[in-house]
Amino acid sequence: MDIRVENLFKEYDSREVLSDINLEIKRGEFVAVMGPSGSGKSTLLYNIGLLEPVTRGRILFDGQNAARLGDKEQSKIRLSKIGFIFQFYNLMPELNVKENILLPYWIGGKFENNKEKIDALLTELGIVEKKNEKINKLSGGERQRVAIARALFNESEVILADEPTGNLDSKSAFEIMEILKKLNTDKGKTIVLVTHDARMAAYAGRIVNLADGKIV
Ligand SMILES: Nc1ncnc2c1ncn2[C@@H]1O[C@H](COP(=O)(O)OP(=O)(O)OP(=O)(O)O)[C@@H](O)[C@H]1O
Ligand SMILES: [Mg+2]
Repeated sequence: MDIRVENLFKEYDSREVLSDINLEIKRGEFVAVMGPSGSGKSTLLYNIGLLEPVTRGRILFDGQNAARLGDKEQSKIRLSKIGFIFQFYNLMPELNVKENILLPYWIGGKFENNKEKIDALLTELGIVEKKNEKINKLSGGERQRVAIARALFNESEVILADEPTGNLDSKSAFEIMEILKKLNTDKGKTIVLVTHDARMAAYAGRIVNLADGKIV
């Protein structure tokens, strides 16, 4: 789907963190969002992903303003249309790989348990032999692959990644970037990658720079 951000403002405790952001992300694009710490990169990503309410402005998915939908409708969109990847994985350490992939859907009331699909995803990501392992037994790179499998499970077209390589050694980081690149080129996933690392941003087709809550 095409994503358009229009006149987006975000305040925390009446402090403006995002200021009149206008951004268009076409279906199938790979966009990197760069900028210094505190410039609003994560806030922008979470607003686009409907994880945070906007203060003002529109988040258009294929022309429909998702920012003004209610919680229920927003969570439906999140579950079906968006995959998230975070710097610190956001996995449950005591649950195994398969359980972590399914957890968001269980929480959302969708009692999925498609073993074949999980096996196929984990095989593609090179960690199928870990499928019954608890997360706290895995390396950082393996954890991030689990997070990617979770993001892909709903077959969403859009992947929003917040510093997905920020906690990894550079070898694992480049492996994760190769996976994201392939998802974009081979599977046509739309990717928005937040990073402050120019080597990672170089994988994107376009770089958006943020400073002080504004696109520069
Ligand atoms: N939940 C929150 N409550 C209050 N202020 C917040 C909250 N989340 C973020 N902020 C503030 O908003 C500003 C932008 O934060 P954000 O996390 O988007 O920056 P960032 O560009 O992602 O930084 P980093 O590179 O360090 O991750 C910061 O000044 C931050 O302190
Ligand atoms: Mg951040």
